[in-house]
Amino acid sequence: MTELAGKHIVLGLSGGIAAYKAAELCRALVKEGASVQVVMTEAATQFMTPVTLQALSNRPVVMSQWDAREPNNMAHINLSREADAILVAPASADFMAKLLHGRADDLLSLMCLARPMDTVPLIVAPAMNREMWQHPATQRNVAQLKADGTHVLAVGTGDQACGETGDGRMLEPEEILQDLIAFFTPKTLQGQHWLITAGPTFEAIDPVRGITNLSSGKMGFAIARAAAEAGAQVTLVAGPVHLPTPRGVQRVDVVSAQNMHQAVMNASDAATVFVATAAVADWRPATAAEQKLKKDGSGQVPALSFVENPDILAGVAQSARAQSGALYCVGFAAESHDLLAHAKAKRERKGVPLLVGNIGPATFGQDDNALLLVEASGTQELPRNSKRALAQQLVAEVAQRLKARP
Ligand code: C5P
Repeated sequence: MTELAGKHIVLGLSGGIAAYKAAELCRALVKEGASVQVVMTEAATQFMTPVTLQALSNRPVVMSQWDAREPNNMAHINLSREADAILVAPASADFMAKLLHGRADDLLSLMCLARPMDTVPLIVAPAMNREMWQHPATQRNVAQLKADGTHVLAVGTGDQACGETGDGRMLEPEEILQDLIAFFTPKTLQGQHWLITAGPTFEAIDPVRGITNLSSGKMGFAIARAAAEAGAQVTLVAGPVHLPTPRGVQRVDVVSAQNMHQAVMNASDAATVFVATAAVADWRPATAAEQKLKKDGSGQVPALSFVENPDILAGVAQSARAQSGALYCVGFAAESHDLLAHAKAKRERKGVPLLVGNIGPATFGQDDNALLLVEASGTQELPRNSKRALAQQLVAEVAQRLKARP
């Protein structure tokens, strides 16, 4: 995907060991379709060569306000006017202090000061030692930079180049990329709280065995990411899957259908939209053995009996808030055949305004899918595409329906 196609990013590097990550970030931005103009401070060139960044951005790196290559000798004006955003990564403690005071004694700070604030946002990815990050001066600067309209990204936590451990590392290139894509996403879901279930459930037979299914959770995770990017607060209740948590999403990990039911009940009062993508087990073993069931050599197999799990979606759809329209419910149906007929019947049975059908075996574990939106008023197809793109489309469809409500 080229999610930054058409965007022109000025990537600024100030001096810090995290500059090595800027090379990968530059490459990731270009891969997503952005054009990138790299600007480096002198200190940044101690950590990373301009040659590397020129090769990755396919443009000469600019380092000095006296660069005579600009015909009018005004690199700070020319380069900042073209940009869709200036992204400073890494932003050192010193560089942030400089920004705060409106100092402009090198090209990068001069450019940040000279940018048209209404049209060229400034995004900074702080990177420093944990003591420097925690210092009241830095925290004061961060607060004031935010108040001045700068978008200050979070910092990472963990091992630092200095050998210490704590907050202050620069985010990883992929995280910065995701934050930038989110930054450019129109905030159509501002003020909403989406509650999403995703993945399979695991119903224990004994401490080491259980019943589960092939749901990968990818569709639900993609919807959670798209909703968060569009400005919603997102709670993602996830069954056992190995997927990274989308940025800005609050994740609640659960195992069984009963756990998932409880987690959804805990969060549903605050939600305005509920999207049930999880493949919840319909039944669970009536009792889970406390100890591992053993083969005794007799050829006798254990007799398993099952009880039905709560239908989470149907339950939420019957709640007073869903019935009054305060909570908009979206169900999913994974079918193996006759998608339309089954999806229509399921929508009515679950009592939800929108049921999204897909062909289960064709989508489980895959990165793409095709969706069929079924409502009382009719149906709409979202043709085969990546789950990422379909999630964005589905979020936009739901946003439209919420907006159209009286
Ligand atoms: O009945 P079926 O499992 O086919 O319904 C699928 C839809 O219902 C999905 O949205 C799924 O997340 C939801 N569901 C649920 N709780 C269950 C079973 C299904 O929320 N116990």
